[in-house]
Amino acid sequence: MAKYLITGASTGIGAETSRVLAAGNELFLVYNRSKEKAEQLKIDLEVMGAKVHLFQADLTSEEACIRLFDEVCLVTTSLDALINNAGGLVQRQSIEEFEWDLMLDIFNLNTFSLFKVTSLAIPLLMKGSNASIVNTTSIVVRHGGPTATLYAASKGAVDTFTRGACRELAPTIRVNSVSPGVIDTPFHHKVSTQEQMKTWAEGNPLKRNGVSKNIADAIKFCIENDFVNGESIDVNGGLYIR
Ligand SMILES: NC(=O)c1ccc[n+]([C@@H]2O[C@H](COP(=O)([O-])OP(=O)(O)OC[C@H]3O[C@@H](n4cnc5c(N)ncnc54)[C@H](OP(=O)(O)O)[C@@H]3O)[C@@H](O)[C@H]2O)c1
Repeated sequence: MAKYLITGASTGIGAETSRVLAAGNELFLVYNRSKEKAEQLKIDLEVMGAKVHLFQADLTSEEACIRLFDEVCLVTTSLDALINNAGGLVQRQSIEEFEWDLMLDIFNLNTFSLFKVTSLAIPLLMKGSNASIVNTTSIVVRHGGPTATLYAASKGAVDTFTRGACRELAPTIRVNSVSPGVIDTPFHHKVSTQEQMKTWAEGNPLKRNGVSKNIADAIKFCIENDFVNGESIDVNGGLYIR
């Protein structure tokens, strides 16, 4: 029974990753606001054969990250994978309008929380088997995205962190990232219009946007393949080609 901790597990990509990893494994799922969805997910995953522990934490607070790992350490002494998936665009804003508070909100959510959670998870991962970390970045790291530049920069820092951590934590812990394109999840319900979603789908060589399972399967691949390390896997249907 492998032990996986997934942040942002209550909805979208994180919830689907939990489903893809459920069978026969022990899942440590972190949610923030979506308590009911997380509780329903736990029930569904248990039916699929997983042992599930739920934790509530607003990961933008250092104390909450520390409390989370205090609680996790009460129920396990090791982890086999950390999936750093919590994140979001927060708010679209043009560069001329940048406000300091928004910069803090976006970097606290996508960047600093991930750094802190990773740091706290290392002692548990050191005791894991085929241990690895998978970070969720974004197509905007390479592609850019007007009004999403702050978000892109916050994910760009995670992309760089992935390579640094890969060198620093080898050979015990592998570190990779998965970089989603446009994926139809609650992420876009908050910050994108139906029209934008349609335009992105039409601009994609596959003429559609992705679904959470496309990303969850790539995360599972990174966890299971013990020679994939320091990699950033693009899953975007060809919307951006390197
Ligand atoms: N969808 C896309 O097109 C796309 C593209 C590129 C990258 N991504 C990235 O993929 C990841 C998953 O996003 P998604 O598309 O699945 O969107 P989503 O459904 O909105 O999921 C975001 C998750 O992050 C959690 N979260 C938000 N704020 C948090 C906080 N302060 N503390 C702890 N958890 C927090 C949410 O938990 P609660 O709901 O419980 O608050 C939720 O589970 C994100 O990192 C996102 O940036 C998505």
